Parts: sequence; structure tokens; C-alpha cells
Amino acid sequence: MTMKILAFAGSTRSNSLNQKLLDIAALGAIESGAQVTHIHLGDYPLPFYDGDLEGKSGLPEKAAALQDLVAESDALLIASPDYNGGYSAVLKNALDWTGRPNGDGHSGLAHFANKAAAVVSASPGPLGGSRGQLAIRGVLDKLGMLVIPQSFSLGLAHEAFDKTHRLRDARADAMVRAVGAALAETVRKLKG
Ligand SMILES: Cc1cc2nc3c(=O)[nH]c(=O)nc-3n(C[C@H](O)[C@H](O)[C@H](O)COP(=O)(O)O)c2cc1C
Repeated sequence: MTMKILAFAGSTRSNSLNQKLLDIAALGAIESGAQVTHIHLGDYPLPFYDGDLEGKSGLPEKAAALQDLVAESDALLIASPDYNGGYSAVLKNALDWTGRPNGDGHSGLAHFANKAAAVVSASPGPLGGSRGQLAIRGVLDKLGMLVIPQSFSLGLAHEAFDKTHRLRDARADAMVRAVGAALAETVRKLKG
């Protein structure tokens, strides 16, 4: 059975802590038999969603590309930064555009529905971005996704990785990989 997971971070920053955490969670999914497609939201620049712009110009090309990627995937694996207790604007904007109707008038929301999702987060603060993570979980739930309970918030993340982007704490490494593994296992069950 093929299990396709689309992985992306809600940060476009080079040296993003969330990107590093995402890569480790993705390893867990790969070890459990999933195929993981990594994308960088910086490669999908989108204007801020605006109904007038959409009415005039339709769905941006990059949003259509994101729709195709979500449509081809069985699950999403997201690493979400915490900005003032919420998630990043770039992440929300990408999700909002992806859910809009395409050129044929078909809603993009259907591509999310009844698929699995997992969220991890990293922050230099002690809570590891857990408030933002909670907020994005609600958005994914609203999109009709099955957000798995397994998650991880990496606090003091600026001190957590070595130069090769590995987590210094072996227990944390295992817990992050376990999130990816749990997502793959959920996909396996959903696909029967
Ligand atoms: C506008 C803004 C607000 C932030 N608010 C929080 C916050 O409420 N809690 C927190 O833990 N970190 C907060 N941070 C710090 C981010 O977690 C930190 O910059 C983190 O490295 C961003 O993720 P990245 O490394 O993946 O880019 C904030 C950063 C910015 C730029």
C-alpha cells in the first residue's frame, strides 16, 4: 500500500527550527513505510487572500499547485511556529488559498477532507510553540482532517539541535519520530 505524506513547515525562514523538527518527524514516517514529499512554502509565494483579487484573477498558479499536492497526498505533516500564541500568517494563507475553488469551480476543501494530519512545533521559548500548535490543530479539524493526537512541542529549540541538525536529546528524537510513525500508521488504517 502506498502512503503519501506531504510535509511542510509554517516558516519560510532559512535555518528554521520548525523545518529541522519537521525533517526528523518525516524520518519517522519514512521508517514506517510512508513516502514523504517535502515542500517549502517559500517556493509557493501567494498574495494575502483577498476576495476581490480572487474574483478578478482567480486562483493563483501556486495555490493550484498546492491543491494538486494536497489532492495527491494521504496526509499532511506540519511543523508550525508560534507567533504570539497563534500560527504563522504564511501557513494560514497557504491553507486558505488551497481550500478555494479551482478554475473548474471545484472547491479545494474536498482535498483536505477525511485525510490525516499531524502537527509538531518548535520554539526557543519553554512551551515549544504549543499554543500556536493548538490553534492550527483547530484549523485542520475545521478543514475536515483527522488530526492525530500524537504531537510534539520542542521548547528551547535554539539549543536542541547539533550542527548536523540532529536533536541532542535521544528521547526527544524518538518522540518526534514517533509522531511521523503514528501518522503513517493512521494512513495505513484509513486506507484499509
Ligand atoms: C512575530 C513573532 C511572534 C512570536 N511569538 C512567539 C510566542 O508567542 N511564543 C513563542 O514560543 N515564540 C514566539 N516567537 C518566536 C518564534 O517561535 C521563533 O522565532 C521561532 O524560531 C520561529 O520558528 P522558525 O525557527 O521555524 O522560523 C515569535 C516570533 C515572531 C517573529
